[in-house]
This record gives sequence, structure tokens and C-alpha cells, in this order.
Amino acid sequence: MASIAFTVNGQQVTVDVEPDTPLLWVLRDTLGLTGTKYSCGVGACGACTVHLDGQPIRSCVTSVSAVEGKAITTIEGLSPDGSHPLQQAWIELNVPQCGYCQPGQIMTAAALLEKTQNPTDDEIDAAMSDNLCRCGTYQRIRHAIHRAAELLGGEQ
Ligand code: FES
Ligand code: FES
Repeated sequence: MASIAFTVNGQQVTVDVEPDTPLLWVLRDTLGLTGTKYSCGVGACGACTVHLDGQPIRSCVTSVSAVEGKAITTIEGLSPDGSHPLQQAWIELNVPQCGYCQPGQIMTAAALLEKTQNPTDDEIDAAMSDNLCRCGTYQRIRHAIHRAAELLGGEQ
């Protein structure tokens, strides 16, 4: 066991776990942040995507020791009240079907909009292509990212 300190959604946390524990289990089981989902467990689907110092990572294949001293953002920390433009757009366009993949989709989309204000369809497809959705919501995800870009740009 080791004591590992890092920041989650702006809060400093210290956890006592095996250093090779996947970050996903620390977030879900130790810290109770169950918005981040487990699906493939091998880095292949994107359901477990969170941000590490602003970059999207797969928390199922990232050991907690790798994030020591760093800043993690989960879906719970994207906005204080669910009002991030992506969350607004997701609601407006009824993006989710079962919903399981959607936290990971939104976190990947948020990282895209951080670096590309008004992405093209090709840029969206390139950024989102490794986030799988068994319900096939890809078209609505693309529309919602465009809508969120509008909202971020101040268009209503
Ligand atoms: S659960 Fe992590 S990439 Fe699929
Ligand atoms: S909404 Fe069901 S897996 Fe994506």
C-alpha cells in the first residue's frame, strides 16, 4: 500500500491503495465518483475517459501512481451544476440512448473544444473515433459538439 496524493475536480485527495491500482477503481470505489464508467477495461472503448492535467486519458489503464501530484477532472467536475455547454447541448439534442458511454464521450469532447474552438466534422470524427457507443449515437454526438461550440461562442 502507498499514500498517493493528487487533485480531483479541484479537491486535494490522498488515497491509501496499491500503487498499480487503476485510477478508474480509485475514482469509483475509493472516492465514490461513479460517473466514470468501466466497460472494456483495456483502453479500447473510451467509457472511462477523464482528464489528466487537461488531456483525455483512459483511467482503466492508468495506474493511480501515474497521477500522483497531478490534476484529474471527471464528469462530476466538468461544471459545478451540469451547465457546461456540452451538457446543455447533450440535453437539448437528446444525445444519450442507454447513456453508458456518454460521460466518456463528453470528457473527450470537452478536451477537443479546449483546443479547437469550432471543430469541423472531420476534426470531431478524428477526436471522437476511439470513443465507442454501442447504441450508435454518433450523429447526435457530432451535432451536439457543434451546438456546444456555438454555445461557447455565445450564440444562443
Ligand atoms: S473501460 Fe477504459 S477504455 Fe474501455
Ligand atoms: S448511449 Fe448506449 S453505449 Fe452509447
